[in-house]
Amino acid sequence: MNPGSNPSAVSTPLCDIPDYERQAKAVMSEMAWEYISGGATDEITLRSNRESYDRLRLCPEVLVDVSQVDTRVTLLGHEHPFPMLLAPTAYQRLTHPDGDLATAKGAGAAKATLVASIFATHSIEEIAAAATGPLWFQLYTQPDRGLTRDLVQRAEAAGCEALVVTVDTPVLGPRYREIRSKFALPPGVERSNLKGLAGAAAAHRPTEQSIYSAVLNPKLTWKDLDWLRSLTQRPVLLKGVLNPNDAERAVQAGVAGIIVSNHGGRNMDTQPATIDALPRIVERVAGRMPVLVDGGIRRGTDVLKAMALGASAVLIGRPYLYGLAVDGAAGVTRVINILRREFEMAMATAGRPTIAAIDASVIWR
Ligand code: FNR
Ligand code: LAC
Repeated sequence: MNPGSNPSAVSTPLCDIPDYERQAKAVMSEMAWEYISGGATDEITLRSNRESYDRLRLCPEVLVDVSQVDTRVTLLGHEHPFPMLLAPTAYQRLTHPDGDLATAKGAGAAKATLVASIFATHSIEEIAAAATGPLWFQLYTQPDRGLTRDLVQRAEAAGCEALVVTVDTPVLGPRYREIRSKFALPPGVERSNLKGLAGAAAAHRPTEQSIYSAVLNPKLTWKDLDWLRSLTQRPVLLKGVLNPNDAERAVQAGVAGIIVSNHGGRNMDTQPATIDALPRIVERVAGRMPVLVDGGIRRGTDVLKAMALGASAVLIGRPYLYGLAVDGAAGVTRVINILRREFEMAMATAGRPTIAAIDASVIWR
């Protein structure tokens, strides 16, 4: 090696999401790795989320001027430079010491909106102070209505532009990899938004005796949505809708949008892949509200496929955690930029240089 050369410049670069995944596994504790990468029981849904994207084939159009590729979308009145947000993920300090603060910085540098989890290991105020880009707040409603109201109001005061209520988790699913790897929050790592709450220091995990968690709300129903919406001026979205009938109820309930999600395969196994559930939901919603989707997006072509099947935007979960594990804020930025660039290349090579040009004809039938 030449004297003075940078050793990292000659090591193999991390090019894509699988590279980041491998490297993240190498640098993370086994417990943290099992927590982020695992799913419920046999992980059939977890695998389907990927396999269904891989099975779809693309149908390019040639001789289209793609000298400019425009990925902008407008969601709930705000323009996003590209249709990809960061999904809420709990306990990011297990992945990197700077946790959600690094994610907020990395997202901002890449101009992506971060949906901050209620189970963040920094408070929403700390995350907002670190953020350089837009933030949304994800809520698990709490059994205590007063606490739920406080959290919603804190998030709004901190500048969160939308409220995402996760509705697919009245209880968590059986995640045996978490149990085998003895999941526990290390001392000093806590659910900062719930500080002081009795029971909040306990693990979110169900025990042998009970399927319930002190920090999840199994009593939440459609009747509570008016109340939830009355707590905030901001748009309220539901995350975790898979059933077209629920999508219809969501429209009737007046929510601002939905996120088609199976929680990254972490809660109920053998649910369908989200990309397979998406078309029926899009058909039922019929343009009455934005329909976002997450689960298994690892390639720019996956983003193209989701947009072709009617998504208004996508969210990524584990991929940015891989970036966070490997290189903190810079890793988060890089992962977003890799997917953005792959998406732009996919649009150009598909001959669909604008979001409006991405319709179902992109999918090979
Ligand atoms: C999650 N997810 C999640 N969802 C949510 O609404 N609140 C949360 O606190 C969390 N926490 C969480 C932690 C970890 C480690 C993961 C991997 C996921 C689900 C997440 O928002 C999203 O739905 C999936 O991660 C999307 O799938 P991919 O992109 O990870 O395949
Ligand atoms: C998870 C929860 C906390 O998926 O949402 O781990």
